Amino acid sequence: MPLPTHFFVALAFSLSLLTHVAARPASYAVWAADSAIKRKQGNGLDGSGKGSVSYEHGELQWGLRLLYERTGNQSYYTYIQAGADNIVSSAGTLHDNYKLSDYSLDPVRTGPTLLYLYDKTGATKYKTAFETFKSQLNSHPRTAQGQYWHKLRYFNQGWLDGIYMGDVFYAQYVKTFQSSNATAWSDITSQFNLMYQNTLQTSGNLGLLYHGYDYSHTAPWASSDRGHSPEVWDRALGWYMKALVDVVEIMPTSVAGRTTLLNILQALAPKIRDAADPTAGVWWLVMTQPGRSGNYFESSGSAMFVYSLLKAVRLGYIKDTDGSIVKAMKKAYQYMTANWVVANSDGTMSWKNTVEVRVFLVTTELAF
Ligand SMILES: *[C@@H]1O[C@H](CO)[C@@H](O)[C@H](O)[C@H]1NC(C)=O
Ligand SMILES: *[C@@H]1O[C@H](CO)[C@@H](O)[C@H](O)[C@H]1NC(C)=O
Repeated sequence: MPLPTHFFVALAFSLSLLTHVAARPASYAVWAADSAIKRKQGNGLDGSGKGSVSYEHGELQWGLRLLYERTGNQSYYTYIQAGADNIVSSAGTLHDNYKLSDYSLDPVRTGPTLLYLYDKTGATKYKTAFETFKSQLNSHPRTAQGQYWHKLRYFNQGWLDGIYMGDVFYAQYVKTFQSSNATAWSDITSQFNLMYQNTLQTSGNLGLLYHGYDYSHTAPWASSDRGHSPEVWDRALGWYMKALVDVVEIMPTSVAGRTTLLNILQALAPKIRDAADPTAGVWWLVMTQPGRSGNYFESSGSAMFVYSLLKAVRLGYIKDTDGSIVKAMKKAYQYMTANWVVANSDGTMSWKNTVEVRVFLVTTELAF
């Protein structure tokens, strides 16, 4: 089973808060990374060896960078760069499985890798490539309120996923090249805020975020009142939470909208803590239907919550005065390592209980 990078990213940060990590390779993060590298995951190529501008790869590279910074192991940096060079030509064009005219936020998630490599190497080709993503954002279709559509073919739809795919890059770009551009920071803040306002549960008392919304209320899944999707999906909310903590970290403290993001984070963190299964301590795939037949404890969203909430506490973005958030995240982490890590006979690890996305029909894709 492929190794989801959320898990590895989560571990890279959460390890510092834990005292008894099993004596595997140096850490679960190292074990996960070395396993992914051995399997050639996230290397900028698809299964048939063709270049692939893919958010999964961007996400793995983000995790590898964090691990590189922590361990100094040059192999991680080399792997990130080789992965980028599989999708960026020497002239700076992106592999042609990326099409700007699709206006999909997903491939933009590889943008932070290119910003990072430009910073490290100064090579113009990386700049040319990430400027393509920036020009996509400049002309990206939006709802009347200003929310980026998730994709051109998802007319008027904002998805939690898109916040992670588009706005981490947008924030890192603005910080690097236009850090005093108040309009840009306000736009980034607004992406988070519009998503929060339009998807926040107002019934059911969970206080979480539905997977997405259709501002035109025409999608078959859209609620008649606010256009939101019917369920809360752990992985989508996980992406939103990761984007929140990562963008708060990127955003200069002088930016007014940072308070808006902190308020959202502070509102959601205790709701996520309280939504964990009381016995196992981890989260259901469909958070709105705990215990329903076919629903299960899902590992990628759980890892993303652990990453986000521990990082938020560690960096002081949320107060955890009674320690209940760290306690809950440690409980989840212990469940994760005890139940979902699989030690393979070749020394690599796998990670189970995550989702496989199967697209049956475009219109049902947002069933969660
Ligand atoms: C560095 O990472 C590589 C790639 O995963 C791994 O094979 C190697 O053992 C690591 N080196 C050290 C010194 O940990
Ligand atoms: C500031 O940001 C906005 C929104 O991203 C952009 O349209 C504008 O060109 C930027 N201005 C400068 C001076 O970079």
